[in-house]
Amino acid sequence: MINDLGARREEFFAGTVTQIDTSERSLILLCDNRVGLKVEVLSPRILRFKFTTDGTFSREFSYAIAPGQAQAPTRFKVKTLSDHIRLTTKELICTISKVGLVTRILDKSGNVLNEDEKGFHWEEHKEYGGDIVKMSKTVQAQEYFYGLGDKAANMNLRGKRFENWGSDTYGYTKGTDPLYKNINFYMGLHRRQAYGIFFDNTFRTFFDFGSERQEVSSFWAQGGTMDYYFIYGPSLTQVTQQYTTLTGTPELPPLWALGYHQCKWSYYPETVVKDLAKGFRDRKIPCDALYLDIDYMEGFRCFTWSKSYFPEPKRMVQELKEDGFKTVVIIDPGIKIDHDYWVYQEGVENDYFCRRADGPLYKGTVWPGLCHFPDFTREDVRTWWSGLFKGLIAETGVKGVWNDMNEPAVFEIGTFPNDVRHHFDGEPGSHRKAHNIYGMQMARATYEGVKNFAYPDRPFTITRSGYAGVQRFASGWTGDNIASWDHLWLANIQCQRLSISGMSFVGSDIGGFIETPDGELYIRWLQLGIFHPFCRTHSSGDHGDQEPWSFGEPYTSLARKFIELRYQLLPYLYTTFWQYATQGTPMLRPLAFIDQTDPECFHRMAEFALGDNVLVCPITQPDVEGRILYLPQGQWYNFWTDALVDGKREVWADAPLDKIPMFIKAGAVLPFYPVQQYVGELEKPEVTLHVYYHSNPDACVSELYEDGGEGYGYAEGNYLHKTFQTTAAPDAFTLTQEREGNGQDAYSQYKIVLHGFMAAPVSVTVDGQEVTLEASSEETVPTLRVPAAFKTLQLQLSTKA
Ligand code: NOJ
Repeated sequence: MINDLGARREEFFAGTVTQIDTSERSLILLCDNRVGLKVEVLSPRILRFKFTTDGTFSREFSYAIAPGQAQAPTRFKVKTLSDHIRLTTKELICTISKVGLVTRILDKSGNVLNEDEKGFHWEEHKEYGGDIVKMSKTVQAQEYFYGLGDKAANMNLRGKRFENWGSDTYGYTKGTDPLYKNINFYMGLHRRQAYGIFFDNTFRTFFDFGSERQEVSSFWAQGGTMDYYFIYGPSLTQVTQQYTTLTGTPELPPLWALGYHQCKWSYYPETVVKDLAKGFRDRKIPCDALYLDIDYMEGFRCFTWSKSYFPEPKRMVQELKEDGFKTVVIIDPGIKIDHDYWVYQEGVENDYFCRRADGPLYKGTVWPGLCHFPDFTREDVRTWWSGLFKGLIAETGVKGVWNDMNEPAVFEIGTFPNDVRHHFDGEPGSHRKAHNIYGMQMARATYEGVKNFAYPDRPFTITRSGYAGVQRFASGWTGDNIASWDHLWLANIQCQRLSISGMSFVGSDIGGFIETPDGELYIRWLQLGIFHPFCRTHSSGDHGDQEPWSFGEPYTSLARKFIELRYQLLPYLYTTFWQYATQGTPMLRPLAFIDQTDPECFHRMAEFALGDNVLVCPITQPDVEGRILYLPQGQWYNFWTDALVDGKREVWADAPLDKIPMFIKAGAVLPFYPVQQYVGELEKPEVTLHVYYHSNPDACVSELYEDGGEGYGYAEGNYLHKTFQTTAAPDAFTLTQEREGNGQDAYSQYKIVLHGFMAAPVSVTVDGQEVTLEASSEETVPTLRVPAAFKTLQLQLSTKA
């Protein structure tokens, strides 16, 4: 073959299998040309394919895979047939050709889920040595592709090609690639079945979904090993759940981290920060966290405070705390070369910084000027880095840390030169191998430090870059976006995509980082942002103010209204986070994840669900009074009007500037908190259960997870997991509650609000006792109060209604 440079390109393939071995977990095939394949059976639905080109398999080491993933061996059978080998698990059949190791994976009914085109092949890397390892697969009929982290592209990736090489992409636009994060995980959906592929390779990687050749998808890396996991759903949600569990779920964040956050580059000096805090409280706009960007430091030296801007940080942080604000500070990887700076001195004395191939310490320019950079791929360096947080967290009271510039970014040249060396936890290599995991390992060291010093409270961290599995260590944001309608559209897609790629705790810079939005754009963005797990306004600050009140009326009142809605939704958001933290379930779910039997859902991308019961579709155009959107199957209540709408069709949703199209699933029980100015303002916030009528005799199930919202009491059983079921009969409606866990209710009663009932119930009994409705006139929604530990609420409905 002739490559782009006109030079001869030789590709190599596996030969013929000469040796077949099986162990408890794996099938190992070796070919006559020393190519080998190890198929590891992780579960009946997860197979790992690891290749070698020289007869030996590399060390089992991965930054992505969560510790403790080597579960008990899974039963599988291997049969050798004339031209192929067949491996079967309870769920899958995998055939591998004896010549060329070409693989096909089928479900138990014999439907092809995924099949190799050429399969594994490689070429020598002419410039750097080593192999460019490649895999090609056949695109199945009507196959859709999803995933791949933060890509700024349509939801369905088919027809596109992407690269993963973490990059500081200031002012990126739709189509810019690569971006900040490196998530080598995608999903395929065809014939109503879904599977996922996770390519665990830290080199620069590429993915092609039928762009170069329409019927072929492929992925390859500029070094390392062809090592990938095949994950069978069959549902898309199950694929994401398994992938997220494999690469690690995060711990529950402190509840305040799900509140509203305010950031700017930069709020300083102290008087500005104090005025900002006062601005929120005076205007009664809820807020939990205030951020300090790089200017809080002394000359951008990490782990220092500017003496002139913040002379007494501990006092300031304490005073903010008394007013309900948590302080979050930025920390970058670059350590200023300054012989009088203790972090620099410690780094040099202990040889913690990255070196060039020929020995000298690597120097790169970022905010403080010339810097050295810790080699976060060394355990002792991570331990040192973690320890550096003692001052900020334990001594000063800072509650969260924001890691930025960790692609790693270097001014003018982009990132480190390729020759920079990294320890790679015992497998030393160049920056080519470590680049894509550098940011994740920084986030890991930061997380461990913050966790250690915050204890018994929970840590909160945020990162810009990351590799698969980074969700164990940090939340994330989508980087330096622009205050434009196009970017509002992108924020919606990127956050959904990150969520289905294992990273649910994400948000965008609300309003846009670069330039300034007008009031309308800011409100439309905030309306979307309150449904993102991480909800923060951030801006570069050099074009204009971007606080919720910066645009005057009516925008200030509208901003308050939507931030208040965020605070009301907290019990629901926290429950959705708990589903993510315990089962890997994505918090934001594109329509294809809601109904993968409905082809209309496969390419939809504006509409999404947050959790089990809330469906949202942002307005991403100026000057409109509503929009058309697609509701998936089932029945949905318009949140604003309680009008019941049938799904599986397009509908028009009114959405003047004081509304965002928002629908609640019929039958749902949606828990709300009262509005608070910050989490913890009310010691015992009462939960209101909004119960949405459905006429279905089959139960509709909703969950509510509650714990202290801080600390680790939940690990000792101090939580309550409540399951609500609603069922309907022609003249009755029943709501039941089941509870699990040893936690105590923070409140003695629920307020219950009934939505969608044709008329107020004729009678209501709670665990057999009749109760009266508080409000039941024609105009008001019927409400009542019931003991928090109720088991059954029975509503007798008028048959005439
Ligand atoms: C780049 C980050 O993306 C941005 O959020 C931050 O404000 C600036 N660096 C300054 O620290």
